[in-house]
Amino acid sequence: MKIFIDSGDLNEIRDAVAMGVVDGVTTNPSLVAKTGKPMASLIREICEIVDGPISAEVLSTDAEGILREGRELAKIHKNVVVKVPLIAEGIKAVKVFSQEGIKTNVTLCFSATQGLLAAKAGATYVSPFIGRIDDIGGNGLDLVGQLVQIYDNYDFQTQVLAASIRHPVHVIEAALLGAHVGTLPYKVILQLLQHPLTASGLETFLADAKKIPTA
Ligand code: G3P
Repeated sequence: MKIFIDSGDLNEIRDAVAMGVVDGVTTNPSLVAKTGKPMASLIREICEIVDGPISAEVLSTDAEGILREGRELAKIHKNVVVKVPLIAEGIKAVKVFSQEGIKTNVTLCFSATQGLLAAKAGATYVSPFIGRIDDIGGNGLDLVGQLVQIYDNYDFQTQVLAASIRHPVHVIEAALLGAHVGTLPYKVILQLLQHPLTASGLETFLADAKKIPTA
């Protein structure tokens, strides 16, 4: 499974890249707003740090506006993926983007029917929001499994990008279900590395190492 970092924070992105575990980056208007930077310059900076798919979200909600904004975002760098909300106008734009060779990440996916139509329109990625479905008592991972199954059944090239990931279990389960990508907040990336036995084992080794005569 490819791992993207779900963040606009350049320090978090740099640190995750330094760990060698990041294949790409996803942003959204809330994450961009947190940085206080204009969208285009932030995306340009991220493209200089990560040589992989970088999702940048449009703010328009009509097909014409989405196309205009998306074409501008795509001009920033060859790695930019235009993030489009899963609404009717968004799907219209995805169809045109796919004809123009512009990669898309269709976001705010909450049902298999939505995901099916996004794939039929030619989306490169579809982002089911696991955590937000869980927040309302649903099971977000079920949606990931359904999308992987449906795309496999009909040989859609669309990749399932598991999003709104809250903890390591979401990552493992999404991987077991065959999600193509998981986009993780920085905090969750760090959690994936942690294990109490690793920490205690290292502590013991380092303590015992002090008993090793130097000569
Ligand atoms: O970037 C999209 C998504 O991963 C955000 O999810 O629920 O953590 O805001 P959430």
